[in-house]
Formats: sequence, structure tokens, C-alpha cells
Amino acid sequence: MSRLEGRVAVVTGGGTGIGKAICLQFAREGADVIVASNVEAQAEEVAAEVRALGREGVAYNIDVTDVEAVNTMATAVSERFGKTDILVTSAGVMGARAFLTDTPVEEWKKTIEVNLNAGFYCIKAFLPGMLERDAGRIITISSISGKLPAALNSDYSASKHGVIGLTKALALELGILRKNGITANAICPGSVETPMIDQITDHFVQSGKQSREEFRKKSIASKNIQRRLLDPEEIASMAAYLASDEARGVTGQAINVCAGTVLF
Ligand SMILES: NC(=O)c1ccc[n+]([C@@H]2O[C@H](COP(=O)([O-])OP(=O)(O)OC[C@H]3O[C@@H](n4cnc5c(N)ncnc54)[C@H](O)[C@@H]3O)[C@@H](O)[C@H]2O)c1
Repeated sequence: MSRLEGRVAVVTGGGTGIGKAICLQFAREGADVIVASNVEAQAEEVAAEVRALGREGVAYNIDVTDVEAVNTMATAVSERFGKTDILVTSAGVMGARAFLTDTPVEEWKKTIEVNLNAGFYCIKAFLPGMLERDAGRIITISSISGKLPAALNSDYSASKHGVIGLTKALALELGILRKNGITANAICPGSVETPMIDQITDHFVQSGKQSREEFRKKSIASKNIQRRLLDPEEIASMAAYLASDEARGVTGQAINVCAGTVLF
């Protein structure tokens, strides 16, 4: 299927997990992909996989919390490709995993900076080109924690609620500008098999009271209707749909891909 033939996509956090799956799905559907990550080797690896699929794959080493670097990336992509059709903001961190009173201020700031502010920096940098052409797709990666706050995770929950607010406000503004060629949507994944879930598992099984498998089964998979973790490819399929022409009427939405963990 080539729903994204000729499109140019920038995917932050593209070196692993959900971002990586999105890069590869986009490439399979015909897009050239800029794999943006703060881990150069991972970005290089995914870019090579994109090229192996017959598309242009470019690794871009960046810390997305660096506003100047984000602006430079937007200019570099524009110079090389002439446009950006799709921006996916998937770069994220897990947060402090502690009671609010035990959450260090620096940890709070980092989570908000990476998960929320960096999305704003990226959208601000890439949107002007989309506005000029009245064509584009902004896809943010929020979380079900953006709808249903999780205890011991106030920084992460706040950041992901913020991502939904940012995305919906952007959709409204695009409407005011009558830019119907651009859509803005958030995807809210449930628990997905990625390095982030490994980190959470490591964090909670440190005490040795339960095995990794037990923790995953009892504390993660049991939270959804289907009693399972999702594959990153399931999130990537939704991203590819939102990026396609088929989804031109879908905007301002926060779409759950969560095996039924939250029902709103
Ligand atoms: N895995 C899940 O269960 C799950 C559920 C809901 C939402 N999410 C969200 O999905 C997104 C992707 O997470 P994932 O599960 O694939 O985990 P992941 O850890 O594999 O991916 C996060 C990526 O972001 C990159 N990154 C982090 N900080 C960065 C920075 N400052 N600049 C550039 N890149 C940076 C990392 O290098 C990594 O590749 C995150 O926003 C996460 O919050 C994940």
C-alpha cells in the first residue's frame, strides 16, 4: 500500500519503540523519513532500515528540548526536501515514578520539557511550511495517562494531558485560519512493548518480590479489556492512517489505541 507516496515525514523519538515503528510503517507506505533522536546510533540504524525499504531515510541527531536545534532541523529538512508533510512527536521520557512530594523539581521539569514543551517547539518550527501549502499532518503521541492520570506519575500524567490540550488547541486554530489541509491529532497509546515499558518493569521488580513476567501480567496487561500489551506496530498503523488522505476529516482528536484500557 502506498498511501504516503511522495510524503516527507519527520519523526522525533524515531530511534526506538513507537517512533521507530512509525518510521518503518511510513516508509512501507511510501514516505521518506527523517529519523530524529538524541541517540545517534539508533537513528542511523532506523534510517538504514528505511533506506532498505526503498525510501530516503535520514538520521538526525538532536535533543528536541533544544529550541535552536529544532529550528535548525526544520531549516535543514526544508533545504533538503523542500517540505515537511508529516510531523510526529514521539520523543518522550517516563517521568519520576514517585509520590508528588518525592518528585524532584528537576525531574518534573525534565518530563514536562521533553514530553510537552519539545512538542510545542517542533510544531512551532514545522508548522509555517505546512501553513504556506495548506497541507500537513501533525501527530502527537500522548498516552492514556493523558486521559486517566496515573498515581506515582504526576509529571508524566500532567505532560500527557498537556499534549492533548496543545493538539486540540492547534486544531482549533487551524480551523480559525481555514487551513483544512492540515490536521492535528494525538494518539493515546495504552501499554506498548517498548524500551519504556522495560524501564517501568525494571523499576517495579527491583525488590525481587515478583518476576518480570508476573509484573507484566498482573500490573500491566490486566489493566485492559484484552489483557495484553500492544505492539508498537499497532500505534504505527494509526499514525499512518492519520497521515493519509483518508483521514483528512479527522482533526482535533485524541485517539486511544489501548486495547480498551480507557473507554473515553
Ligand atoms: N510504551 C508505552 O507503553 C507508551 C504508552 C503511552 C505513551 N507512550 C509514549 O510513546 C512515546 C514513545 O515512547 P516509547 O514507548 O516508544 O519509548 P522509547 O523509550 O522507546 O522511545 C522514546 C524515544 O524518545 C527519545 N528521546 C527521549 N528524549 C529525547 C530528547 N530530548 N530528544 C530527542 N529524542 C529523545 C529516546 O531516545 C527514545 O528513542 C513517548 O512519548 C511515550 O510517552 C508510550
